[in-house]
Amino acid sequence: MTDRPTDSPGAPAPILYAHRHLLGIEGLSVPEITSLLDLADSYVEQNRQADKKRSLLRGRTVINLFFENSTRTRTSFELAGKRLGADVINMSVTTSSIKKGETLIDTAMTLNAMHPDVLVVRHPDSGAVNLLSQKVDGAVINAGDGSHEHPTQALLDALTIRRRRGRLAGLLVAICGDLLHSRVARSNIHLLTTMGARVRVIAPPTLMPGAIERMGVEAFTDMRQGLQGCDIVMMLRLQTERMQGSFVPSIREYFRFYGLDYDKLGAAKPDALIMHPGPMNRGAEIDSEVADDIDRSVIREQVEMGVAVRMACLDALTRQSTSNSPLGAS
Ligand code: NCD
Repeated sequence: MTDRPTDSPGAPAPILYAHRHLLGIEGLSVPEITSLLDLADSYVEQNRQADKKRSLLRGRTVINLFFENSTRTRTSFELAGKRLGADVINMSVTTSSIKKGETLIDTAMTLNAMHPDVLVVRHPDSGAVNLLSQKVDGAVINAGDGSHEHPTQALLDALTIRRRRGRLAGLLVAICGDLLHSRVARSNIHLLTTMGARVRVIAPPTLMPGAIERMGVEAFTDMRQGLQGCDIVMMLRLQTERMQGSFVPSIREYFRFYGLDYDKLGAAKPDALIMHPGPMNRGAEIDSEVADDIDRSVIREQVEMGVAVRMACLDALTRQSTSNSPLGAS
């Protein structure tokens, strides 16, 4: 008895994810992504039952190490670990020795000495989580590194879309707003293009990364043009904490040209779904009415999918270590 949800009891679905860590979506294959999404799908049903707790990760330790603020991601990793029966410890930077000057690597080595099975790490610098993963023995999950990648966000977005539309391939997805600073956008572009969706990015020139077309997307600076005929409209927060200097004239002006309201949304397909990773700045990148539209907005559903996706990731990575698989270093 594996205590893992299955379609046919006694036969856990094989997981095709064959890496020690989850550092990014870039480089993952269609079967790997599909397998994580299928596993997450089974956890959605489990999370809707009264008894949500399983013992799959009993005896395992998960440490959440967050060097940046987080509500959704940290809480959902905590819940995910607990629902699978693991011991979960949250380390926040404000209470740790990092404040006293300890380096990232010293912290990693200190935690490593306590034998955690999984370290879930968020850090403001791109590449910091990758560096840390090379120094520890357990599995590392990137919970967002600078403006680089946020793989579990892209997986939960994909699960939300797939459950609503039945597929990812062939859909036209617009990712709009602060592309320049967004790890969510980067991970989503990798995932959606790998899975056969068509991706458009829409941003003012100041927030559009140079040569983004090389990632296999079409770039637009006009919202109505970019949203034309889209199935999915994914909005991004203005990441002011990563901006040095002024990237937009004013919030009012930004909303006028790039904020999602019903007028601009009219260019997308009539049943286009509205998404946002949160936290939302209402009145900056999205109008409140649109964000709360129960027929179109799936923002709450994204949060629900977040727990299931993180359970699937913890499950997949700990299976790797149980079997002592030599596969995949990344
Ligand atoms: C995102 C993040 O932290 O990158 N949020 C999240 O994980 N839910 C996006 C953001 O902060 O805007």
